[in-house]
Amino acid sequence: MPAIDRARLKSLMEREQKRFVDERPKSKALFERAGKSLLGGVPMNWMIKWAGAFPPFVRAAQGAHFYDVDGHRYVDFCQGDTGAMTGHSPSATIKAIEEQIRRGITLMLPSEDAVFVGEELQQRFGLPYWQFALTATDANRFSIRLARHITGRSRILVFNWCYHGTVDESFISLKDGIAQARRGNIGPPVDPSVTTKVVEFNDIPALEQALAAGDVACVLAEPALTNVGIVHPDPGFHAAMRAVTRKTGTLLLIDETHTICAGPGGYTRAENLGPDFLVFGKPIAGGVPGAAYGFTAEIADRIAQRQNLEDCDTGGIGGTLAGNALSLAAMRATISKVLTQEAFERMIPMAERWTAGVEKTIAEYNVPWHVTRLGCRAEYLFSSERPHNGTQAHEAMDFELERFMHLYAMNRGILLTPFHNMALMSPATDKGDVDHHTRVFHESVKELVG
Ligand SMILES: Cc1ncc(COP(=O)(O)O)c(C=O)c1O
Repeated sequence: MPAIDRARLKSLMEREQKRFVDERPKSKALFERAGKSLLGGVPMNWMIKWAGAFPPFVRAAQGAHFYDVDGHRYVDFCQGDTGAMTGHSPSATIKAIEEQIRRGITLMLPSEDAVFVGEELQQRFGLPYWQFALTATDANRFSIRLARHITGRSRILVFNWCYHGTVDESFISLKDGIAQARRGNIGPPVDPSVTTKVVEFNDIPALEQALAAGDVACVLAEPALTNVGIVHPDPGFHAAMRAVTRKTGTLLLIDETHTICAGPGGYTRAENLGPDFLVFGKPIAGGVPGAAYGFTAEIADRIAQRQNLEDCDTGGIGGTLAGNALSLAAMRATISKVLTQEAFERMIPMAERWTAGVEKTIAEYNVPWHVTRLGCRAEYLFSSERPHNGTQAHEAMDFELERFMHLYAMNRGILLTPFHNMALMSPATDKGDVDHHTRVFHESVKELVG
């Protein structure tokens, strides 16, 4: 197997950096201007992580594509890191937004759309009760708080190298088996080992041991890890996790924010999981901020028993804008008309095609990488072995190589998700888009090792 020649990688990277900057004078000028009003010249601090010297500034996006201010057209496989998995600005969502925006945006009162969305989510995920938030982060936070409230337990458990949004408790990782604050975390309120236990994904004995003391309110888990590359559950993992959580009185919170790529009811419906809580955010409203969290009838009862009317607003769960009329109108249209079963039937074969294209190049050049897929999401990792847990997946990461692959792709009109090598198919992504990636990926690997 050819090793990556680092000197060659460096010189290719320099060439690509120059090309990126030379071809984007307008983005460069906007970035320089932004540097005078925005921290780091970007609206969100991690946007500096894009592989170019600055991010391309966007002029317009539609369906599976966007155009930058310099006139470049991109196939968007990032899709707003799942926020725009519907494709950009789907017409059904736009229509609902246009109609609602003239009828009121936010009220602190319910609309009929809230009921429609609750009923639809019930059908999709099999959980009877729902509440709304504006982000998946918040939906996770609120679920955790409710889980603590009703169990009277203070801690949660997460899997190593998970990501669930800006949830303070989740920024913990294992180093040589010891739980500690995750590298790079910003301003944790307390040492996360006070609030959180962490074990490796797919490690049932470790999970059993961690839950045995009965002090964990809930396990917060993606059904498959998606934020450190894709790590699939081993056969039997979910059944065993459910059994041990039930045995120890620990609630199970499944975060479907990314694994919604598995189908309209996410991984939970596809694999018949039985969580106590479920979170679904990002694309639920077609890119308009919105998220939902659902729970069982038993959880609803337990919440009701511990709530009284006078104090029910004290915890601030929800927030002023949660469940606003605009988000709910957008959710209604998106889940009933855009993220449909029929859409997944088009998206999943596109991800299969993308995977096959990448696999062919990996085999042709015998690079020690592999490609994996979950529904309409696919990803290549820099290891020949498929990881079983977050540590193995994290060890397969190669920051320098990843940046090169991303920049090479961007210079040729392809956007991957910035933090790893992930591609998401939207209902608008077509074979031509996928085959464009296959060609560019082939070229990049050929230049690297050919
Ligand atoms: C699995 C998962 N849950 C929750 C979130 C948080 O979503 P948001 O940033 O929209 O709050 C993310 C974000 O990447 C995620 O990957």
